[in-house]
Amino acid sequence: MKQLQCNTILVIVSAILLGTPVTAQVKNAFQYEIQKSVQATKGAVVSAHPLASHAGISVLKKGGNAMDAAIATQLALAVVYPGAGNIGGGGFLVAQMNGGKRIALDYREKAPSKASRDMYLDSTGKPRFELSQSGHLASGVPGTVAGLFAAHAYAKLPFKDLIQPAIELAEKGFVITQHEADGLNSTKTAFLKNNTRPTAFVKEKPWKAGDTLVQSELAGTLKRIRDNGVRGFYEGETAKLIVEEMQRGGGLITREDLRQYKAVAREPMAFPYKDFTIISMPLPSSGGIIIQQMLKMVQKRDLSSLGFQTPASVQLIVEAERRAYADRAEFMGDPDFVKVPVKTIVSDSYIQQRMADYRQDTAGSSAVTKAGVVPHESEQTTHLSVADRWGNVVSVTTTLNGGYGSRTVVGGAGFLMNNEMDDFSVKPGVPNMYGAIGNEANAIAPGKRMLSSMTPTIVLKEGKPFFVVGTPGGTTIPTSVFQALVNVIDFNMGTEKAINSAKFHHQWLPDEIMVEPDFPETVREALRKMGYKITVRGFIGRTEAILLKPDRKGGFTLDAVGDKRGDDHAEGY
Ligand code: GLY
Repeated sequence: MKQLQCNTILVIVSAILLGTPVTAQVKNAFQYEIQKSVQATKGAVVSAHPLASHAGISVLKKGGNAMDAAIATQLALAVVYPGAGNIGGGGFLVAQMNGGKRIALDYREKAPSKASRDMYLDSTGKPRFELSQSGHLASGVPGTVAGLFAAHAYAKLPFKDLIQPAIELAEKGFVITQHEADGLNSTKTAFLKNNTRPTAFVKEKPWKAGDTLVQSELAGTLKRIRDNGVRGFYEGETAKLIVEEMQRGGGLITREDLRQYKAVAREPMAFPYKDFTIISMPLPSSGGIIIQQMLKMVQKRDLSSLGFQTPASVQLIVEAERRAYADRAEFMGDPDFVKVPVKTIVSDSYIQQRMADYRQDTAGSSAVTKAGVVPHESEQTTHLSVADRWGNVVSVTTTLNGGYGSRTVVGGAGFLMNNEMDDFSVKPGVPNMYGAIGNEANAIAPGKRMLSSMTPTIVLKEGKPFFVVGTPGGTTIPTSVFQALVNVIDFNMGTEKAINSAKFHHQWLPDEIMVEPDFPETVREALRKMGYKITVRGFIGRTEAILLKPDRKGGFTLDAVGDKRGDDHAEGY
């Protein structure tokens, strides 16, 4: 058993390697261990950080339901995982409540009212990505706090109980992991460039694992939210501080933009796959549409008979991904602003026609499969999955977009703003800095939501919750969720193998299969022989999943697993 001792943080690396659940040991914010998997019967929470999963479990133990836990976990992530957890960003929540109520909450950021289509172009029409990706101008109007209060309608406990763990973590501090120390150190230059007020994230000496991070200004903001509700963020002192920060750095968000922000309840995307029902996020996420398309494209060809990660099954998945991502770029944007032919592009006849030129053993071509191109998306988002003893399940993906968002901290309020404006097509029809072209459907307009890939998903079996899943990863999100789904449904895998197996990704352009370093060499070679270009990249996503197995007493055994790829932590009881 290899153990890594970092001051008071004990990181158990072996749990995942050996597949053996270990006992959760989150004693307090200064003594905690990372636990990768747990089996539970009363409730489980999986998130990107042990202290956040623990906050969720603590409210379940107080009598809260899965929605209470999802709210408390998100708020704690805003403190202990500043790289992606947030109150200055946005997210999507998909849930099925005991009794069958299905929920899809959209609290995606919006373009400020002063935003315009060409706001990131210079006088020669050249995109200035440094402005859409970093600093004040990169921020959309944050949606997370509105989303948390919209979610609270389905919770049981008072909001003040759900925010309390986050307040304590911000006020008293917590010790950081090596991952967090690395993230803060590598972002120091950007923090110094983008901020004129002191921030908790910058100190003279480099951060190291075991250092304590105290966020007093953030604690103050969280208390204003506790005391004044949604207005504690969108009006009053916090709104004033956001607008002052925007004015200091040339950002566009106004008090009126904040006052007018509303989370939106959408109709969840629900569709059958084999004997299961998949529930996922509709537009402005592309995720629910894409996974429906991809699952339909592989369904008739029976993946399981092709075998897990054989050249034939990988090729089939890749060709489904190529076609779905081409459609994403061509058609998708905020449905409140553009007409997206959703019914058509998920219809059986369209899917059949889309796969008509699929040839087994021969690489397809993105020059032939015509459509727009997928714009680059940052991969620093975060996901949490929650299940409780009553059969409520909640799947949430939330984001600042890039790691630490715009790297701009709201002076006096202590939280990071998003750089979500970069998820729009900065210049429709022209390749961006990554060689990708965006489309008109996702062009910038005042008050519009930028297209997202976040795909919080729930699978039902005979109407009952069966699998809760999601991941960060920008454009790799739908492929990661798609592969987790087929791993569980078609390849009959347990949770741990389903999310930790090597992943691969194709997004139409660039026309290549990106593979994780541990993707088998023999399969890479077979795919090369078919005509595919293979590129090895770093880890793809950080999937958090819970598999629910009905027990004899009408309850469930919850098999919860945090991804091997980060500080992800599964806790249950
Ligand atoms: N910012 C990542 C996404 O929304 O997909």
